[in-house]
Amino acid sequence: MTIRSARIIGCGSYLPATVLTNAELASRLDTTDEWIRSRTGISERRIAAAGEMTSDLAVAAANKALAHAGVGADSLDFILVATTTPDLIFPATATIVQRKLGATRLQMPACDIQAVCAGFIYALAMADSLIRAGSARRILVIGAETMSRLVDWQDRSICILFGDGAGAVVVEGSTESGSGILSTHLHADGSYEQLLCTDGGISQGLLVNPGAGSGLARMRGNEVFKQAVMALEGVVDETLAANGLEKSQIDWLVPHQANIRIIHSTAKRLGMQMDRVVVTVDRHGNTSAASVPLALDEAVRDGRIQPGQLLLLEAFGGGFTWGSALVRW
Ligand code: ACO
Repeated sequence: MTIRSARIIGCGSYLPATVLTNAELASRLDTTDEWIRSRTGISERRIAAAGEMTSDLAVAAANKALAHAGVGADSLDFILVATTTPDLIFPATATIVQRKLGATRLQMPACDIQAVCAGFIYALAMADSLIRAGSARRILVIGAETMSRLVDWQDRSICILFGDGAGAVVVEGSTESGSGILSTHLHADGSYEQLLCTDGGISQGLLVNPGAGSGLARMRGNEVFKQAVMALEGVVDETLAANGLEKSQIDWLVPHQANIRIIHSTAKRLGMQMDRVVVTVDRHGNTSAASVPLALDEAVRDGRIQPGQLLLLEAFGGGFTWGSALVRW
């Protein structure tokens, strides 16, 4: 049996119950609902409950994806978790997810992918490669984050942007070509580290030297914005060219949900009306690696995305890292 492509056979997502509105933020910080909505498109975001970990969000999304695919966790032969906010420094959140899914019996490999907001696209690309190389047959790919624990709640320039959540897909080898994941395109440019990073890390002595920084996220938003727009325009053009496609052939844009103005600019590049773009940023904020699978799951479950349609998934994040995946649903 020759495997010719990797297909997404199920998806799922999970959002924590607590909603944090712009109005609540405005009561604590020097900001307004109007400023946040007009600059970002965000009205509210979800916040994980005390004791609710990234792995808990991931497992909730994974169980829904497995049920949607009609397969059990024991049938997986790889678990990839894209996250910037792991439960622990080690072990990987993916191994915690494996345990919580009750899938340790077959000892399938499990590891985390760290590419910040582009993490899910990176993980999907790696799942596609593993399957097409014959190294795995069925892979659980999760994007899960508790970004609310990585932001400084006194810093109005960043805390208003982020939210918590998880999305997951089950990817499986197929003997058909021309379906499933058609191409993936990944990029990184480490020279932009200082525009979007944490101030302090493990190797810098964060845990042993209190003076080594806070470990919280810092961002020069305006400069990140400009780079994000340019990088995403580039990767959209690259994806179309690699597949010999016209813009008009894309049925759905499923973008990373960082800022509605960035989403508008990518849609404009594709000549797409906003009714062909999946938008969740208004209700989810930026959930980093979880944002693309959360948006995908929403549009699949409400019936907007239909079998046979062509989807362009894209994301941009810290590093900088960015990428795209073209998927025939
Ligand atoms: N409320 C009110 N005023 C604010 C707020 C706030 N929450 N935050 C900043 N301001 C002020 C600033 O202090 C500044 O005031 P000044 O002119 O007096 O100095 C003014 O608003 C404008 O600030 P800018 O940073 O220029 O605002 P901008 O229009 O660029 O919007 C934003 C900021 C929303 C952060 C935008 O730049 C953005 O979305 N950037 C991209 C984010 C992104 O895509 N990140 C990548 C993924 S994240 C990841 O990988 C972890």
